[in-house]
Amino acid sequence: MHVQALELSRFRNYWSLSIELDPHLNIFVGDNAQGKTNLLESVYFLATGRSHRTNRDADLINWLGEEAKVTAQVTTRMGSFTMRADLSRDRRKRFMIGGEELRRQSDLLGFLNVVLFSPDDLQLVKGSPNMRRRFIDLLLAQTSKVYRYDLVNYNKVLQQRNSFLKSIAEGKAKKDDLLLWDEQLIRYGTQIMVRRAKAIERIGELAGIGHREISGGAENLTVHYLPFYAAEEASSQARGALSADEVAEGFAQGLAANRHQEMRRGVTLVRPRRDDILFRVDGKDARQFASQGQQRTVVLATKLAELEFMYEEVGEYPVLLLDDVLSELDFSRRSSFLEVISGKVQTLLTTTDRGNFQQDKLCHFREYGIVDGQLLREG
Ligand SMILES: Nc1ncnc2c1ncn2[C@@H]1O[C@H](COP(=O)(O)OP(=O)(O)OP(=O)(O)O)[C@@H](O)[C@H]1O
Ligand SMILES: [Mg+2]
Repeated sequence: MHVQALELSRFRNYWSLSIELDPHLNIFVGDNAQGKTNLLESVYFLATGRSHRTNRDADLINWLGEEAKVTAQVTTRMGSFTMRADLSRDRRKRFMIGGEELRRQSDLLGFLNVVLFSPDDLQLVKGSPNMRRRFIDLLLAQTSKVYRYDLVNYNKVLQQRNSFLKSIAEGKAKKDDLLLWDEQLIRYGTQIMVRRAKAIERIGELAGIGHREISGGAENLTVHYLPFYAAEEASSQARGALSADEVAEGFAQGLAANRHQEMRRGVTLVRPRRDDILFRVDGKDARQFASQGQQRTVVLATKLAELEFMYEEVGEYPVLLLDDVLSELDFSRRSSFLEVISGKVQTLLTTTDRGNFQQDKLCHFREYGIVDGQLLREG
């Protein structure tokens, strides 16, 4: 899939912008603070319904404006359609596909799939588990309708269970009735976790292949799913995908073990929100032992795996947003990366220094200069 054209109005430092994009490679060149990341952010926002760098949507509206709009003409194998996001300081955000407003924000996912690789992603290995869960959740939410459905239901059940726990803590509800909520929580939670485990297993296989290529076969990357109830040790052994029964049992045990604490505190403590992903290079925990360069290679391989995973699940590649990450790679790593994506993945790439790409054999691309929220030239 690809974005044919993009229009921004009052988005961040763009007062008004309209561009046609190349279906393959687009390079945005500009000095610091000119609007390169803002441009990628607008595409990410339209695709996922949120920004990758702020939770406050109002920050996305130009300081001098009241409303912002992002519009894109998108082409997928299903056809071509218009997507639009409207942001306002005093109304909730709205999303439209082909002129029709979506009822729920979660319905937006799947229309335009994106993979973002920004400097923050270098934290994927060493950063907080939260980042890794966001990574797997967005990947699955973009590629699986069932996962989106399970997530929505899970969150509903979680909220209801929490208010029920609060009522118990306040002495207003009977403990026994909690079992009903446990059952539902386990049901949706298990579905989510089994899907996560399966996806991470596949991502691990794909990333392992990419990693061997990038590292010249010198190192071996493995990726492991750490369910919230399992000790790190348990997951360190190579194992197949988790079975639903196994997860449901781990879930039920976790709930039983935390029953008193949950009732006292009036909140659910046991949940897939505590899951994690572990990267190992040659069997060693990359979080503790990987060098800067090794971390970067792991992340690069994981991003490539993400592209392939999406292709396998959806039947076409997502749009790749590369925010100033390639210039930090050495020449051979950058070349092998560009080689893998060239010709098959629409890429929007930013850089402060065009010189970084002078030596690369880039197939077919369009180049844009960005200065102070305006497009300078188009080559
Ligand atoms: N809501 C807003 N309204 C107007 N300007 C904004 C808004 N939010 C951010 N900006 C400005 O946008 C400018 C460009 O930001 P952006 O992050 O896109 O820069 P960049 O080109 O990616 O720079 P770098 O190379 O340093 O990453 C910043 O100077 C920032 O002050
Ligand atoms: Mg930037």
